[in-house]
Amino acid sequence: GRRIAEKKGIPYLAIMAHRGVSDLAPEATDPAYRLALEMGADYLEADIQRTADGVLVCFHDDTLDRNTDAAQVFPGREMDSIDKFTYAELMMLDIGTWFNEKNPDRARETFHELKILTLEELIDIAESHDNRPGLYLETKSALRYPGIEKEIIDLLKSRGWIEDGASMESIEVGNDIDVDPLEDGDGEVEPAPVRIADGPARVILQSFEDESIRIMKDLAPNVPRIYLVDEELEEKKGGWNELIAIAKKYDADLGPSGYQAWPWRTGEAHRNGVLVHHYTLNKPWQMRLLRFFGTDGIFTNRTDLALKLYRRQ
Ligand code: G3P
Ligand code: CA
Repeated sequence: GRRIAEKKGIPYLAIMAHRGVSDLAPEATDPAYRLALEMGADYLEADIQRTADGVLVCFHDDTLDRNTDAAQVFPGREMDSIDKFTYAELMMLDIGTWFNEKNPDRARETFHELKILTLEELIDIAESHDNRPGLYLETKSALRYPGIEKEIIDLLKSRGWIEDGASMESIEVGNDIDVDPLEDGDGEVEPAPVRIADGPARVILQSFEDESIRIMKDLAPNVPRIYLVDEELEEKKGGWNELIAIAKKYDADLGPSGYQAWPWRTGEAHRNGVLVHHYTLNKPWQMRLLRFFGTDGIFTNRTDLALKLYRRQ
């Protein structure tokens, strides 16, 4: 897939910081993305949803119960979906304490204060460092948020990340600083060499909904799109080749789970000119195996490990 990636202007092998470096800091928060930035991830990955009053925010789950204190802040209120909450209400929530409780070895006092990020704030973070990572944005539960593709694209345009439907500028990835993920973390991370990607893909859009992918193509044909899939969707759509056909129809690439990473599948996608970015690989053996299987990029909660293993020459 290297040549296909080069042709499309997408880094190879692409490293996507999945909700930031979300094994070392609470997912989708300022410190999680800043770690990814300093380490030199190619892309900051984020799931975008919309509040009841129309603010685009970075949040993965449908509901607030797993990683916020919403049950205490809003006792008795139904946690059915985050679009029922206003931005001001969401700002009352702490999205870091759960991480400390779940991961006492990686807990930090400062994580207690963390708030949900808006997409604007994520863009600010991405722009705040010379490594200038790209943004890899998912329309999460896209059918619940009609019009969200346009809102995301318009915001990226207004911030100068997309122009006339294309994402601008080369991506400079890697760095020449040693990053110790959490000072007291798990060892030294060697620097990644600085590399300029050939192409212009500073933004990649992604969705599990083919309808959302279609809209993205209509609105921003030159911004790469990834059709996310899993085994259930593969069965529903009638097989792997059908997923490739849908990707091709919308001029998109594929984002399957690691369980769909068999090399003959990836090879078939490549024969169709379709790239394959797999989620979510956090262990060195998984990263090695996926590279051996021919992946074009991975979503990972451990950007540091991926950079070590996929060191570019
Ligand atoms: O977007 C790639 C990967 O994140 C898809 O799964 O559930 O983590 O958003 P999920
Ligand atoms: Ca995602």
